[in-house]
Amino acid sequence: MNNTETSTNTDPKPMILAIETSCDETAISLLQGFRAVSHKVHSQADLHAEFGGVFPNLAKREHGKNFTALLDAVLREGLDLNFDITDTNTSSDLSANIDLTKINEILSREHELQTALVEYLKCLSANKESLRKVKENINAIAVTYGPGLEPALWVGISAAKALATAFDLPLYPINHMEGHIASVLADSEAETDSKNNGHKTEFPAIALLISGGHTELVTVNSWHDYKILGQTVDDAVGEAYDKTARLIGLPYPGGPAISALASKWRANKNQGENVSGNKDQKNNSNQIPEKIFNLPRPMLHSKDFNFSFSGLKTAVLYAVRNRLKELNQEELSEPEKIELAGEFEEAVIEVLIAKTKRAIEETGAKTLIIGGGVIANTYVREKFKTLTENLGIELLIPEINLATDNASMIGLVATLQIMDNKKGLIPGSAEFGELKADGNLRF
Ligand code: KG4
Ligand code: ZN
Repeated sequence: MNNTETSTNTDPKPMILAIETSCDETAISLLQGFRAVSHKVHSQADLHAEFGGVFPNLAKREHGKNFTALLDAVLREGLDLNFDITDTNTSSDLSANIDLTKINEILSREHELQTALVEYLKCLSANKESLRKVKENINAIAVTYGPGLEPALWVGISAAKALATAFDLPLYPINHMEGHIASVLADSEAETDSKNNGHKTEFPAIALLISGGHTELVTVNSWHDYKILGQTVDDAVGEAYDKTARLIGLPYPGGPAISALASKWRANKNQGENVSGNKDQKNNSNQIPEKIFNLPRPMLHSKDFNFSFSGLKTAVLYAVRNRLKELNQEELSEPEKIELAGEFEEAVIEVLIAKTKRAIEETGAKTLIIGGGVIANTYVREKFKTLTENLGIELLIPEINLATDNASMIGLVATLQIMDNKKGLIPGSAEFGELKADGNLRF
C-alpha cells in the first residue's frame, strides 16, 4: 500500500488506474503489476436496500457523485500527492497541461460527474508536481465496459475516457466477468513465464463465477482464453440469495443475511447432535423439533452444465406461504427463518458443487478458480476447498474483499493484457471514441 518513496515509477511492472462502476459499487484501484498500491470501494447497498435491489438510475447518479472523491483518495495514497483540492488558483496555463474542452465534451452526458471531475482536474493540473507524478507513474487506465447496468457502466467509461485524455494514457476496456476470474491473481508473484503470463497456474482450469448477475462455469485455457461451459438459464445464485432474503423479510443484499442465518442453522444442528449424542433434536429447546422445509436441487442431474435457481426461489415462496397458512401466522418465526436459510444454502451449494465437480472431471481441469460476490460466503469457500482437496487439484480463490465487486480485479486483467502485449485504445482514435457500455457483454 505504500509504494510512494519515489515520485517516479521505476518499477518495470505497469502501473494501472482501474475503474469499476458496473453495479452498485463505485471502485477505483491503483495497481503495480499484480499488487494494489491503493484501492477504494464505495458501496451504495444501503441506498438500494429500500428498493430491494439495484435501481440503475440511482446507481448512475451515486457513481457520478462519489467518483471524484474516491479518485482523489486513491491518487493521494498511491502516489503521495499533496496538492490542495480547494486551490482554485488556475492561473497557470491549463491548456498546456490538460485539454479541458475535450474533457468537458466527453463528460457532457454525466452531469454529477462532470462538474466535480473537471474542477478536480483543474486543481490537479494547477499543481505541476502532482500532475507530473500522475503522468510519469501511471501507464494505463482500465475500465469495466460490461456486463452490468448500462447507465452505471457509462459513468466509469466516461470518467476513464476523461482521465485517459487528460493524462494521455492508453485505455483498456475490461469484461467484468474476466475481472472476477483475474481477482485470484491479486498479490501473486509475477514471475515471467511466456507460457501463461508469469503466473504458474496449471491449465486447463475451470472457473465458477457466482455473483448477483451471473452464474457461469467457464473453461480457462490460459489467462486470455475463456469459453462458457454452462450458465444459469434464469436467476443467478446471488440473485436467488437476494430474492429468498426478501421473501423471509431480510434486507438487501440478501447473501450476507441468509448466510448468517444458515451458519446458525449448521451450528444448531451440530450442537443438537453433540448435546444429545444422537440426531434426535426433540429434547433440545434450541432446536426446531422436526425438519419443516424441503427444497429442490434444480437441474442437479441434468447432463449439461447449466443451472437454474428461479425454481428454488419459487419453492421458498411456497414453503413460506404454506407454513404461514398452516399455522395462521403473519411471519416466520426466527427458528423457521434459520432453518429455511440453512436448507436454501444447502440446496444451492449441493448443485454448485456437483456441477463443478463434473466439469472438472470431464475437462481434466488441473485448477479450479472461483470468483464473484457469493464467494464472500465462508461456507461456500470451505466446501470448494474440500472439493479440490478431494480431487487433488489446485484451488484459486480471491481474498474475501476481492470477491465482491472491486476495481483491483479490473486492473489485474489489464495487467495480464499488457504482459501479453495487447495495446490499449489511444485517446482521440476512432476506437477510443466508439467505446460503449455493453450491458450484455459475453466471453
Ligand atoms: O460480484 P458481486 O459483488 O456483484 C455482481 O457482479 O453481481 O455479487 C453480489 C452478490 C449479491 O447477490 C450478494 O447477495 C451476494 O453476492 N453475496 C453473497 C455473500 N456476500 C455477497 N452471497 C452469499 N453469501 C455471502 N456471504
Ligand atoms: Zn461482479
